[in-house]
Amino acid sequence: MGNDPLFLNKLAAAVLSAGLLAMITGFIAHQLYHPHVPAKQAYEIAAGVEEPSAQTASAPAGPQPIGPLLANANVANGEKVAKKCAACHTFEKGGPNKIGPNLWNVVGAKHAAHEGFSYSGVMQGMPGNWDYESLSKFIYSPKAYAKGTKMTFIGIKKDQERADVIAYLRTLSDSPKPLP
Ligand code: HEC
Repeated sequence: MGNDPLFLNKLAAAVLSAGLLAMITGFIAHQLYHPHVPAKQAYEIAAGVEEPSAQTASAPAGPQPIGPLLANANVANGEKVAKKCAACHTFEKGGPNKIGPNLWNVVGAKHAAHEGFSYSGVMQGMPGNWDYESLSKFIYSPKAYAKGTKMTFIGIKKDQERADVIAYLRTLSDSPKPLP
């Protein structure tokens, strides 16, 4: 051992291949002793894909796509609906954060981006921006869309009401984003 300069390399290689062998035999043993996996499912696991139909079948019925509803949305009604939000949010430009962040310019903004507000970890970890669809899903059911969110609001289940409030949020900007 002492004189072999490659000893450590060889040892590492031996350990690695032993580990690999254990994994392979474990896998084979698993296949032998649990042979009842249907070929289709086994293939999907191997390919790392999920069957989309299985997923949608088990998921709860979510909100309607918001795009078509926004086309007919009523901004004035949305402003009324937004009274429900006003306990926690302000809407005007430069308005203060309350229990929730100020919502000026939120449409199209990055998630959790309003200055000076301490967001939950889940909101901070959300990639991407608040587009119409993600706003709709969040407002439909905040805690379903962002498990662990600080927004303890039950959500707006009525599609047109939600579209109205999103259409109102859209107006809260110097240059409102185009409708979808
Ligand atoms: C009970 C208080 C409360 C109510 C009511 C409430 N929110 Fe919130 N909202 C929050 C809090 C707190 C957050 C921050 C969430 C987090 O960090 O997880 C938030 C976050 C948000 C965000 C994300 C903002 C950002 O900067 O990323 C949007 C959009 C939003 N709320 C819209 C609404 C709308 C629209 C309503 C009314 C229909 C509403 N909220 C009602 C407390 C509330």
